[in-house]
Amino acid sequence: MCGIVGYIGHRQAAGVLLEGLSKLEYRGYDSAGICVHTPQALAVSRSKGRLQTLREKCDSGADLPGTLGIGHTRWATHGAPSDCNAHPHRTRDGKIALVHNGIIENYLELKEELLSRGHRFTSETDTEVAACLLGENYAKTGDMLCAIVATTARLTGSYALGILCLDQPDRMYAVRKDSPLILGWGDNECLIASDAPAILGYTRRVIYPADGDIAILTDQSIQIFNALGNPVLRPTEEVQWSVADAELGDYPHFMLKEIMEQPRVLTDTAAAPLTGNSDCANSLLLDPEQIRNLRRIYIAACGSAYHVGFLGKYILEKYCRIPTESIQASEFRYAAPILDQNTLVILISQSGETADTLAALREAKAQGAHTLAIVNVMGSAIAKAADEVIYTCAGPEIAVATTKAYSAQLAVMYRLALRFARLLETQSQEDIRQAEDALLDLPRQIGQVLLPEGIGQMRTLADRFHACEDIFFIGRNVDAVTCLEGSLKLKELSYIHAEAYPAGELKHGPISLIEEGVPVIALATVRELFHKTMANVKEVKARGATVICLTTEEFAEEARRTADVVVEVPKVHPLLQPSVNIVPLQLFSYFTALNRGCDVDKPRNLAKSVTVE
Ligand code: BG6
Repeated sequence: MCGIVGYIGHRQAAGVLLEGLSKLEYRGYDSAGICVHTPQALAVSRSKGRLQTLREKCDSGADLPGTLGIGHTRWATHGAPSDCNAHPHRTRDGKIALVHNGIIENYLELKEELLSRGHRFTSETDTEVAACLLGENYAKTGDMLCAIVATTARLTGSYALGILCLDQPDRMYAVRKDSPLILGWGDNECLIASDAPAILGYTRRVIYPADGDIAILTDQSIQIFNALGNPVLRPTEEVQWSVADAELGDYPHFMLKEIMEQPRVLTDTAAAPLTGNSDCANSLLLDPEQIRNLRRIYIAACGSAYHVGFLGKYILEKYCRIPTESIQASEFRYAAPILDQNTLVILISQSGETADTLAALREAKAQGAHTLAIVNVMGSAIAKAADEVIYTCAGPEIAVATTKAYSAQLAVMYRLALRFARLLETQSQEDIRQAEDALLDLPRQIGQVLLPEGIGQMRTLADRFHACEDIFFIGRNVDAVTCLEGSLKLKELSYIHAEAYPAGELKHGPISLIEEGVPVIALATVRELFHKTMANVKEVKARGATVICLTTEEFAEEARRTADVVVEVPKVHPLLQPSVNIVPLQLFSYFTALNRGCDVDKPRNLAKSVTVE
């Protein structure tokens, strides 16, 4: 995915755009560019590489004077990262400039058509094709709104667009379809952005356009039209996040800041009422009768959110006795899922914009299932498309590899399971109360893991193992799922080849990869499976592995007799133990990546949310 930003008002646009792009760089950082409406032309500066390269190239915007502009930071989809593929893209007559987040799926067909009419292109991008088609329609109609209506009618795919027109120095245009876009109302200034952090410094009053909406923004007004060009009204809302939430503060990296914010995030998410409207959670529309009639639950998500869904499977089946399947969202609609009105499909997504998860949601709705989204970003596509949404209270998550949002999603999953268990009476009231009390105490427990000695132990382990090229994670039951998340964190951040296997599975093949000195991180916190897991530890030890065992204080002494290193974590309610266990693994990945000189906030090849399938 990419990040787009736009500004019109009384300030120098270039500075606002560059600052806004710095808040969106987590969305993509292959190249960046800005365009400012100057009296003579739509002046563009763009460059391959990080935003800093662009800043240096345009002298921090001094080369582009003007109070109207658009900007873009790119995660390459069509065409390699390069200056000529960087946005903004202009029409050859220089009259229109455009930035785009999304995918124009029929761009090749349109490109052929335009080439046949004599147009020429300077990039490999789908975006330049959209700009060219818009320029053609504008030349025909002389009216930008009509030209946008005619152009978007020809586009298939997803797009959030920011558009400038040389003939119109007093306005910018924005279009939203299946890609995130918010419109900000300031004092004598208006902004557009892919995500709230880019505009929080100017306003918290925003409008979330509906799919297909076209907006015309001046420094005094925002007009919105639907895809047919008819005026529509959209509500103005207040963004709940503050500027500081999206700032680095005194931390060296967003990754560490967000790891350290987890106790507060859990406090906020656990305290937010799951029923009744609140900032962080809406009332469940599913009524008790519907919950009693549930025959099956699917949980569809991607990446770390998928791991939350996998834990959700264990939790919902154990505490609510409802058959539950967890599946990668990219597989969901091709797996011929069995869906009907007695199926609940839960979609988990931090950004609320992941294309695979949005596609899974649409498939579930098309087949009559009830859809419930667990999302962190208000007004996002998944939040708006689901039958109901529970917002996590993680605040803006900037680091590409998720930590606090993962923990917040897990807390919502616990609360959902306890809510269902109470309704279905699959757990005693006393057991449910104990679990709820433990959830309220979880922030304190995680705070223990984040004390200097806990952080220091993981830094020391990272110092010892950061040069390894292969690291294995093993565990059983929910520990096996936490191993998946721990190994993904290590892969994402340090580029080490990390694998996770159920401990009982290793002997059926993967153990052939174990040799002298290979580090194996064994999670052994599921009480009734501790000894079985330690038997698997002995198997890898016998083949030369160096074992780091993560277990609770109850088993630490016994684990020390077998493992080379023991990482002791607080023992909490079994339902909640995965939330504690992941924190040392997040820290281990963070410090390992630093030792390897990796960019922990913006790992290579990744993007915060992938809005393409
Ligand atoms: C990946 C991110 O691109 O998308 C992961 O790097 C994330 O951190 C996954 O878990 C899913 O994103 P989202 O926004 O749908 O939770």
